[in-house]
Amino acid sequence: MRSVKSSLKGLNIAHMRLVFLLIVIFLQALGLGTVRAQELAPPRLDEEFRKQEKIYRSQGADVPSGYVIGRGLSDYAELLPSGFCDALAKLGSSDRWLDIGAGEGQAILDYYAPQDPAASAEKCGGSGPKAGAVAISIEDRRTDKWKEQAASFGDDRLRYLSGKRLSQHSSEELGKFQIITDVFGGFTYTEDLSRFIGKVLSLLEVGGAFYTLVQNVQLENGKDKPSSSFQTELVDSAGRDIKMCSWLKQTPCVNVGCESKNDWDTPTELVNIHKICSDVSVRPAKLLRYEAGNPPGRRFQLEP
Ligand SMILES: C[S@@+](CC[C@H](N)C(=O)[O-])C[C@H]1O[C@@H](n2cnc3c(N)ncnc32)[C@H](O)[C@@H]1O
Repeated sequence: MRSVKSSLKGLNIAHMRLVFLLIVIFLQALGLGTVRAQELAPPRLDEEFRKQEKIYRSQGADVPSGYVIGRGLSDYAELLPSGFCDALAKLGSSDRWLDIGAGEGQAILDYYAPQDPAASAEKCGGSGPKAGAVAISIEDRRTDKWKEQAASFGDDRLRYLSGKRLSQHSSEELGKFQIITDVFGGFTYTEDLSRFIGKVLSLLEVGGAFYTLVQNVQLENGKDKPSSSFQTELVDSAGRDIKMCSWLKQTPCVNVGCESKNDWDTPTELVNIHKICSDVSVRPAKLLRYEAGNPPGRRFQLEP
């Protein structure tokens, strides 16, 4: 009797082991198991954030070649959505433009004092009265020449703030803006995409617009090359891919326009967001993966 019992017990344990093994195989086949556990591991993220910080702090020959910090206004005109230059030209002297992730701050300097005929005020930004301009960057990339030129326009017209991320500046400190731009700045580098967009929209006047771009994403027009591997990925709570523009369009009180550039070297979305009323709230997304770089690789999961 005892031997029958123990053989039955043995059979149950064997069954349980088999079921457990099948579950593990099933989860691994779905890409859930170990991969997700690694994605969420905080020490790994901390290490990536440390590496990213090194890129921000790099100087001279140590600045990685892909970390471009000196784009001027003509580059902004080429990279940002089509309405940007006209909108800039329409600003009056009491209006304000914020450039997030400004690097050396060349674009706002060109707006005031174009150095290069290609960046002439008539081409982008107009030749009329100039709006106040604020540039922000984590690290101070201003050159002595920049400081000299900017000083000649008066500190209150042209400001450069560094030492903090966008989220660390208070709304009182920054004030409100009619135009906000971001060319491979915070939108491309942030580890908290929802908070970043929420802050941008809170700084925009109703009627104002945010102009930006993000490369290596799943495009709104669905024409990314089949082999594209995306640098910024968004998934819903079930792990299904979500396009950057579809997510942004879920935000109340904004009109979002997307220009998909599937013929550029990497699939790139040019995005403009017009704020049409003040009750803005951005659907939260949590960080699943961050790999330091210029730009970093990121994966976010939208919360229900
Ligand atoms: C690759 S550079 C781009 C500079 C400039 N826009 C250009 O195109 O030449 C990235 C810039 O974004 C800034 N940046 C990254 N994340 C940021 C954040 N969360 N808030 C403010 N600036 C940020 C960096 O400090 C740096 O100035």
